[in-house]
Amino acid sequence: MLKDKIIVALDVDCLNKAESLVADLAPYVGCFKVGLELLTAEGAPRVVDFVHRAGGQVFFDGKFHDIPNTIEKASRATAALGVKMFNVYASAGIEAMKAANHVKGKSLLLAVTVLTSMNEESCRSVYGTSVEDTVKRFAKQALEAGVDGLVCSSQDLLFLNSDPDMKKLMKITPGVRPAWAESNDQKRVFTPREAIQAGATALVIGRPITQPPWEIGSPVEAVKRILDELAQVL
Ligand code: C5P
Repeated sequence: MLKDKIIVALDVDCLNKAESLVADLAPYVGCFKVGLELLTAEGAPRVVDFVHRAGGQVFFDGKFHDIPNTIEKASRATAALGVKMFNVYASAGIEAMKAANHVKGKSLLLAVTVLTSMNEESCRSVYGTSVEDTVKRFAKQALEAGVDGLVCSSQDLLFLNSDPDMKKLMKITPGVRPAWAESNDQKRVFTPREAIQAGATALVIGRPITQPPWEIGSPVEAVKRILDELAQVL
C-alpha cells in the first residue's frame, strides 16, 4: 500500500507536540518513527502506547550500540512493546546483531549502516573507509546476522542493490527531501521519487512533513504532496 511507503519521524520533545501530528497523519502513513528525543523525554512504553492508541505502528529508533548481552536485553524489552520495527547499529558487530535477532519476536530488526548525516569525509574519519565500502561491509555483516533490513541512504541503494543477496533485505531510508524542502543537516539525500526508484522499501521523513515550508502549509498537505509524488512511480 502507498501509505506503507512513508514513515514519519516524530522528532518532538513531548507527547503533547506529537498528539496532533499523529492524529492528523495516521490516515496517510503506515508508521511513526519514535527516536531518542521523545523516548528519553517521555519514556518508551508511554510513547509506544500513545502511537498504538492513535492507530499508528511504531518504528522504535533506539539505535542500540552496546555489548551483545545488553543489546539482547534491550531488544527483548523493545520487542515486548509490540513495535513493528526497531534497530541496532551494524557497527556494534555481528554478535550483537545476532543477539538482537534472536529475541526480536514478531518485530522486524533493522541494522543501521552509515548515518545519512555523514559524508565521505566524516565516514572516513569514523570508520576509516569510504561510504560505499563501509555500507557494503556493514550490509554483509547484517545479512550474516539474519536481520530483516537495513537503514541506509537511498543513494546507497545504487550500489547495494547490484548485489543479489541484498535483495532479501528491506531498505528503510532516511535522508529523503522533496524538491520543495530544505536539506537541513542531511548530506546524502534523495527525493521521494528517486528513493523509491532506487529500491527503497519505505522512506523515513521528518522535518519536510512535521515542519513543512510555509508555502506547503500543514503536515497533512506535505504528506499528500509526497504521496502524489510516489503514486507517479509506483
Ligand atoms: O527530519 P529528517 O527527515 O532529517 O529526519 C530523519 C530522521 O531519521 C531523524 O529522526 C534521524 O534521527 C533519523 N535517521 C537518519 N539517518 C539514519 C538513521 C536515522 O536521519 N541513518
